[in-house]
Amino acid sequence: MNKTDNNNSRRKFLKKLGGSAVLAAASPSLLSAATNFADKHVQILKKRGRVPANDRINIAAIGLGIMGFGNLKAALSREGIELVSGADCYDGHLQKLNELYGSHVKTTRHYEEILDDPGIDAVIISTPDHWHARQAIAAMKKGKAVYCEKPLVHKIEEGEALIREHRNTKVAFQVGSQWASSIVIHKAKELYQQGAIGKLNFVEVYTDRFDAKGAWQYSIPPNASETTCDWRTFQGGATALPFDPVRFFRWRNYQAYGTGMAGDLFVHLFTRLHTITGSLGPERIYATGGLNYWKDGRDVADLMLGLFDYPETQQHPAFNLSLRVNFVDGSGGGDSMRLVGNEGEMVLDGNSVSIRNKKLPQAPGYGGWDTFETFPEKVQQEFVSQYNEKYQGIRPQVLSVGENIFQAPKGYDMRVDHFDDWFNAIRTKGVAIEGPEFAMRTAGPALAANISYNEKRIVHWDPSQIRQKQSS
Ligand SMILES: NC(=O)c1ccc[n+]([C@@H]2O[C@H](COP(=O)([O-])OP(=O)(O)OC[C@H]3O[C@@H](n4cnc5c(N)ncnc54)[C@H](O)[C@@H]3O)[C@@H](O)[C@H]2O)c1
Repeated sequence: MNKTDNNNSRRKFLKKLGGSAVLAAASPSLLSAATNFADKHVQILKKRGRVPANDRINIAAIGLGIMGFGNLKAALSREGIELVSGADCYDGHLQKLNELYGSHVKTTRHYEEILDDPGIDAVIISTPDHWHARQAIAAMKKGKAVYCEKPLVHKIEEGEALIREHRNTKVAFQVGSQWASSIVIHKAKELYQQGAIGKLNFVEVYTDRFDAKGAWQYSIPPNASETTCDWRTFQGGATALPFDPVRFFRWRNYQAYGTGMAGDLFVHLFTRLHTITGSLGPERIYATGGLNYWKDGRDVADLMLGLFDYPETQQHPAFNLSLRVNFVDGSGGGDSMRLVGNEGEMVLDGNSVSIRNKKLPQAPGYGGWDTFETFPEKVQQEFVSQYNEKYQGIRPQVLSVGENIFQAPKGYDMRVDHFDDWFNAIRTKGVAIEGPEFAMRTAGPALAANISYNEKRIVHWDPSQIRQKQSS
C-alpha cells in the first residue's frame, strides 16, 4: 500500500465492515467477518485426501530434540508424508524416534548418511543454530528439499553462501519460523493493507517469561554421558571443549552454539512484522540488556531490548520498532505485539488479531492542563469568544470508532500450514513462503542486535542487500 493512500484505504476498510465496526465499539465481540475468517480456513485443519504414490514425500529428520519431534508431529499429520530416517547426537533421541514411529525408521548419529540416501526427498533440520547453514547447504548440494529451523544462520556471514546455493539449486526451502504461514498473521496483513490503523508509526513487541524452562534450563537426561552423546559431532566448528552435558542439552545459553535471545526470539517477531507489512527490514539497530538473574554459567543475556529504525518504502512509511525479551519478569510473563497507526492499533496474540480505532479530535480544545488556565480573566474571555467563532460545532474529543477481533478457529496450528506450504512447494516444484532471503532478513537484524549488544554500538544494516553496512 502506498502510504499516501492510507486514509483512503482506511475509509474503504470501514466501509467494507459496514455497520459492524460501529456496533463493535460498544461491546467488542467476534463479528461476522471473524466467523467467515474461521470458516474459510477451517479446512486447513483437516487432512488432505489420499495422495497418489508419486506425490509421496520421503522425509528424514536431522536433529531430534524438542523442535525436531514437534516438527515431525506436524509434518506427519499430513497425508503422503513418509518418515524414513532420523539423525541425532544423543542416542536417547534416536531410541525415542523408534518408540514413537516404529523400529523400521532408520537411525544414525551421522546426518551425512541421510544426505547420501537417494531414497530421501526432503530433510527437516532442527539442530542447534550453529549447524543450520552447514547442514542446509550440504542438503541442497545433494538435491534435497530443506525445512530448516530458525534462525537460518548462526553468523551473518553464513547467509551469502546459503542464499547462493539456494539460487543455484532452487530446491523447495522453508525456514521454520511458522508465523509466516499463520492465518492470523495473514489476516493482520490484509487488515494492514486495507488501512485499518491508518499510517503506521510504531511497533512494539514483547515476550516475557518467568520460569526456568522458559529461561532455557531444559531437563538433562540422567544417562547423559560421553557414551550416549556424540559430543564431538555436536560441537561442529565450535571450539572443542571437554564433554559438558549442560552445554549439550542447554546449548541456547552459549554463543558458541546458539544466538541468544535475539536469534531465538526476535527472529519470530521480525517474521510476523515483515509478513504483515511487507517490509525488508530495519536500517539502524541498537540493542541493550543484561544478565540479571539466570547466572548459571551462560554467556548470553536474560533481558534484551532492541530498537530498530525502519526506513520509508513502497510498502510502509518510516516507523520505529521496539522489541523486548525478559526472562525475569516478576509479573509472571506474557507476550504481545502492537502496531500503532495514526487512526488505530492492531494487537496480535498467538490466535487472534484485534483492531481498535480512534480518531483524533478535530478541534484542539482548551482548559484543564493548559496555558489557558494561566491567562487573566479578560484574556480568557477573549480567547473563548475567538475559539467558539473558529471551532463552532467541531468535535473536540477523541472519537472511538470501533473494535474488531478476528480469532483463528479452535485447534488451529500454524506449523501444520507451514508444512503444507512446504510440501506444496516440493510437489509443484514451486517456492515456499519463507525462503532463505526472507529468513536472512529476519535473522540478519536479530544477529545484528547481538553485535550491537555485545559491542555497545549502533549497527547499520542494508535491508535490500541483506548485509551489514561497512560503515558500522
Ligand atoms: N520454530 C519454532 O517455534 C522453534 C521452537 C523451538 C526451537 N526452534 C529451533 O529449533 C532448533 C532446535 O531447537 P530444540 O529446542 O529442538 O533443541 P534441542 O536441544 O532440544 O534439540 C537439538 C537436537 O539436535 C541434535 N544435534 C546437534 N548437532 C547435531 C548434528 N550435527 N546432527 C544431528 N543432530 C544434531 C542434538 O543432539 C539435539 O537432540 C533451534 O535452532 C531452535 O532455534 C524453533
